[in-house]
Amino acid sequence: MPKTENVRIAPAEGKLGVLIPGIGAVSTTFIAGVEAVKRGLAQPIGSLTQLATIRLGKRTDGRTPYIRDFVPLAGLNDLVFGGWDIFEDSAYDAALNASVLEKSLIEQVKDPLEAIRPMKAVFDHEYVRRINGPHIKQAQNHMAKARMLMDDIQTFKVENGCDRLVMIWCGSTEVFHKPAACHQNLKAFEEGLCKNDPEISPSQIYAYAALQSGVPYANGAPNLTTDIPALIELAKERNVPICGKDFKTGQTWMKTVIAPGLKARMLGLAGWYSTNILGNRDGEVLDDPESFKTKEESKLSVLEYILQPEVYPQLYKDFSHVVRINYYPPRGDNKEGWDNIDIFGWLGYPMQIKIDFLCRDSILAAPIVLDLALFLDLAQRCGMKGTQEWLSFYFKSPMTAPGLYPEHDIFIQLMKLKNTLRHLKGEDLITHLGLEYYD
Ligand SMILES: NC(=O)c1ccc[n+]([C@@H]2O[C@H](COP(=O)([O-])OP(=O)(O)OC[C@H]3O[C@@H](n4cnc5c(N)ncnc54)[C@H](O)[C@@H]3O)[C@@H](O)[C@H]2O)c1
Repeated sequence: MPKTENVRIAPAEGKLGVLIPGIGAVSTTFIAGVEAVKRGLAQPIGSLTQLATIRLGKRTDGRTPYIRDFVPLAGLNDLVFGGWDIFEDSAYDAALNASVLEKSLIEQVKDPLEAIRPMKAVFDHEYVRRINGPHIKQAQNHMAKARMLMDDIQTFKVENGCDRLVMIWCGSTEVFHKPAACHQNLKAFEEGLCKNDPEISPSQIYAYAALQSGVPYANGAPNLTTDIPALIELAKERNVPICGKDFKTGQTWMKTVIAPGLKARMLGLAGWYSTNILGNRDGEVLDDPESFKTKEESKLSVLEYILQPEVYPQLYKDFSHVVRINYYPPRGDNKEGWDNIDIFGWLGYPMQIKIDFLCRDSILAAPIVLDLALFLDLAQRCGMKGTQEWLSFYFKSPMTAPGLYPEHDIFIQLMKLKNTLRHLKGEDLITHLGLEYYD
C-alpha cells in the first residue's frame, strides 16, 4: 500500500533553470543530450532519474515504479539552460569545439544550443593557470562580482520565466587550496569578499551568489568550494541544499565498484596503480601541477575509506596507491584509464587485476549533471537544506556533516539515495533482512 509522505513535497510545476558556470565539454554534452532526448533522437543512458526504478515494500509486492514516477521531478521539457564562461562561444560552438558528440547530432540541436550565450565569467588566473579568456567581469572587489552574478541569476530567471533554479559548477578545476580564516564563518567570508581576500576562489563567489539567491549548488569539480563552514552556514540560513564534490565518472567510479568487492571477499590489496591519458581542455588544465593536486586529493581518498586499513591491517595496511593523469592531446575527450591492481588471497598468494577503461569522460558525466539538477531541485522542494549526503553516489569526494567520514562504496551510496527517496515518501526503508519471507 502507498504510504503517507513524511515530508511535504512541493510540486515540480513550471520551468527549472539550470545555471552552469563553465560551458565546456561536460555541460554542452549534458545540454545537447537533453535536447536530443527531448526530440527522440537518443536515450538518456546513465541517468537514474530517467531510467532507474525503485523497489517499494516486499519483494513479493511487485511495486517497482520508475524513480521519476515515484517522486515529483522536473520533466526534461521544463528545463532551461544558461551559464557563464571566460569564452564567448555559444553552447553550439563550445560543443563543436569539445568534439565529444558527433557533428551530425549537434547540428540537429543547433538552435537551442546556439541560443545559449555564456554570461561574463568571474575568473582569476591564479586559480586556473593554463587557460585565459576575454569574457570576464571587471569589478572593484569580490563582493561586487558576487552582486553582478546575483543580477545575472535574477535576470535569467525573469527572462526565461523560470519558477526555480539550480546551479551546477562545470568549470575548470581550480588549484589546490585548504580552508583559510576567511572560510570559517559567513561574517569572515563576507569581509573577505569585500577585502578581495585571495583565499576566496571564483567558484566560491559563484556559490555565494547562488546561495544568497536561494539557488541550490552542486560542485562537479574537486576544488574547495562549498565545503567550508561559511558557505554551509549560508546554505542553512537560506534553506538551500548543496552537494559536491567532483563528479564520479570513470576511474574512480570503477574503484568504488571493485574495492567493495575485494573487501567483501576479504581479499588483500598490495597496490593500486592508476594512470590516465586524456586530451581535452580539462586534461590541459590538470596538466598544471596545482590543479592536478586538487584532483589527486579527490581521487586518492576513496580506497582508504572503503578498505579501512585501520580495521583490517593484515589486508590493507600500507598498500601503495598511485594516481597519474597525463595530458595527451590526440585522445581528446576519449580518455584511457589503466589500472593495475595487485591483490593477494588465501595464504597471501598474489594475483593481479588489470583494467583498461576506454571511456568517454563527458558521456559519463552528462547524466550525472542531469540527475543532480533534478534531485537538488527535489531536495529544495522538500525543504532539505545544507549538505545533501544522500547524493554522494555522484561524487568522488562526497560532502558530509563535520566529523563524519564519507561513504564511498557505490552500493551503499545507491542504497542511501533510494532509502532517502523512500523516506521522503513515507515508504518502508529496505534493509534486505528478508526474514519475513521464511516465517
Ligand atoms: N568529465 C568528467 O568525467 C569529469 C569528472 C569529474 C569532474 N569533472 C570536472 O568537471 C569540470 C568540467 O570538465 P570539462 O571536461 O567540461 O572541462 P572543460 O575544460 O571542457 O570545460 C570547463 C569550462 O569552464 C570554463 N571556466 C573555467 N573557469 C571558469 C570560471 N571561473 N567561470 C566560468 N567558466 C570557467 C572554461 O573556459 C571551460 O570552457 C572540470 O573541473 C573537471 O575536472 C569532469
